[in-house]
Amino acid sequence: MPISVILDCDPGHDDVLAMLVAHGHRDIDLIAVTTVCGNQTVDMVTDNALAVGSLAGMGEVMFARGADRPLAREHRPAADIHGETGMDGPARPANTLILDPRPAPQLIVDEIMSRPAGSVTIVATAPLTNLALALAIEPRIAERADVAIMGGAIENGNVTASAEFNILVDPEAAHIVFAAPWRVTMMGLEVTHLALASAEVRNRLRSIGTPVAAFADELLQFFGERYAEVQDFAEPPVHDLCPLVYLIAPEVFEVRDVDIDVEIAGELTLGRTVVDLRPQATAGRHRVGVDMNVARFWDIVIESIAAIGATSAVH
Ligand code: BDR
Ligand code: CA
Repeated sequence: MPISVILDCDPGHDDVLAMLVAHGHRDIDLIAVTTVCGNQTVDMVTDNALAVGSLAGMGEVMFARGADRPLAREHRPAADIHGETGMDGPARPANTLILDPRPAPQLIVDEIMSRPAGSVTIVATAPLTNLALALAIEPRIAERADVAIMGGAIENGNVTASAEFNILVDPEAAHIVFAAPWRVTMMGLEVTHLALASAEVRNRLRSIGTPVAAFADELLQFFGERYAEVQDFAEPPVHDLCPLVYLIAPEVFEVRDVDIDVEIAGELTLGRTVVDLRPQATAGRHRVGVDMNVARFWDIVIESIAAIGATSAVH
C-alpha cells in the first residue's frame, strides 16, 4: 500500500528533486504539493512548483500556495544558493496546472482530517510556517499524521554556526512543530551533507534520457556552481531528498529516537535544533538521522526519476 504524502516545500533546486522522487516512486501516493516562502517568495516558489508539476505530468496532484511570511520575522530568501527565481539554471517549463483555491494550511488540515488516522505523512523540505498554521487551525492533525523534515543540524548550522536555513527562517514555527504531539523525523545537515550529487550521479541521471531527468541534471549544474562558490562544496548536497527517501526505505538511514527542541530566544543560537543525544538521555518521541547508505540512496533516487513517464509511474 503506497504511503500518502503531502510535500510542503519551497522549490528550490533540491525541493524539485524531492518532488520528482515523490511523483515517480511507486510506494508514494503524492496527494499534494504545498508551498511556503523560503528559498524565494511564496509566489516564485509556487510558480516553480507548478512549472515542475507540468513538466513531470503531475495533473492528479493538488498544488496549494501557503504562507507568504514567517510567523514572527521578516523573510530572508536564499537567492545566493537558488538564484533570483528560486529555480535558476534551466529554462522554465510552461505551466499547464492550476492551483487549489485553499491556502496550503487549510488543505493540509482537510486532507489529514478526512483520511484515516495515521495514513498521511507530511514531508516538509522548507520553513515550517505552513505546518504551524495548520496546527493552529486544527491541533488534532498532530494525533493523525507523522512528519518527516529536512531541517536543522545536530552540530553546525549552514546559515549561522548554530542554525540551518529552514529552521532559521521561521524558528517560532519550528518550535511549535516539534512541540506538537506527533513524531517528527529530522533529517539534518549531518545526513543531508552526505547526499552529494557526484559526477557519477549526474551521469546516471543524464543517461535516463527523458526531459524530466535532463531538467533535474541542469538544476544540479546551477546548484553545484552556487554551492561551490558560496559554501565551498565540491559537489552539491541535495538535502531535500533525505526525508522522502527515508519514507520509501527507512533502512537506508541510521536513526536515533531523541528529544528535539528549537532555540527561539538565544542571540547567538537562534534557530538551533537542540537534539538530546547524551548517553544518559532516555529515548525521545522524535527521530534524527545520523548516517545513511549513500549508494542505496542514489539508486532509489535514480530509479524514481527514471520511472516518470514510464507506465510504473502512473498512480
Ligand atoms: C535547505 O535550505 C534550502 O535552501 C534547501 O532547499 C534545503 O531545504 C538546506 O539548508
Ligand atoms: Ca527546500
